[in-house]
Amino acid sequence: YFDPSFSAALIAWQREHGRHALPWQKTCDAYRIWLSEIMLQQTQVAAVIPYYERFLHRFPTVRSLAAAPIEDVMTLWSGLGYYTRARNLHRCAQQVVHQYEGEFPSDPRLLQELPGIGRSTAAAISAFAYETKAAILDGNVKRVFARVFGIDAYPGLKQVENQLWLRAEALLPSYDIRSYTQGLMDLGATLCTRSKPACGRCPFQTRCIAFAEQRTAELPVKKPK
Ligand code: ADE
Repeated sequence: YFDPSFSAALIAWQREHGRHALPWQKTCDAYRIWLSEIMLQQTQVAAVIPYYERFLHRFPTVRSLAAAPIEDVMTLWSGLGYYTRARNLHRCAQQVVHQYEGEFPSDPRLLQELPGIGRSTAAAISAFAYETKAAILDGNVKRVFARVFGIDAYPGLKQVENQLWLRAEALLPSYDIRSYTQGLMDLGATLCTRSKPACGRCPFQTRCIAFAEQRTAELPVKKPK
């Protein structure tokens, strides 16, 4: 699966055509990056931005969030949905204060033990905040990989997901992990969309199996019923 031309093409594309003005891209503060990644887990960028700004205004540090009553956290979160995220957010802030003296750890394996942080979110936080070389695999990335590599099985199956993680690890770049990680997210969100992908503007057009076989509408394979 190793192929340095994959990350080179993606990093060049991200630098030229990716998103660079999102509020959480202005910082390397792990607290701010963590907050953005939790909000973005199940919510679109445009909906997250005003909540992200309000949250940081009210809770500028992980200590201020940890010290707040849960009711205040829930009130600020209301309207974003998936409220388990807000309860885990508060618990996570308290753990970071008590276990790590208010500093998020840089090791994704340690981040993953905290409430609300799964393997992909842990990797995104450590890549953006600390430049740790770690692989992400969210819904958008699964779609990009399913198309580029022509993966003919439902990516929600454990065995298929394990193979996708192996690919994600093997494709990691030896430089600019931040642009690479943001590039995967941006390609999936802006070009390699679920319907009507913009293949004409895609850096992977010439190597994409789904494009070559005109199967972008069929890949990724849908959940079997
Ligand atoms: N979705 C998840 N993480 C994101 C990020 N850092 N930027 C844009 N969209 C995202």
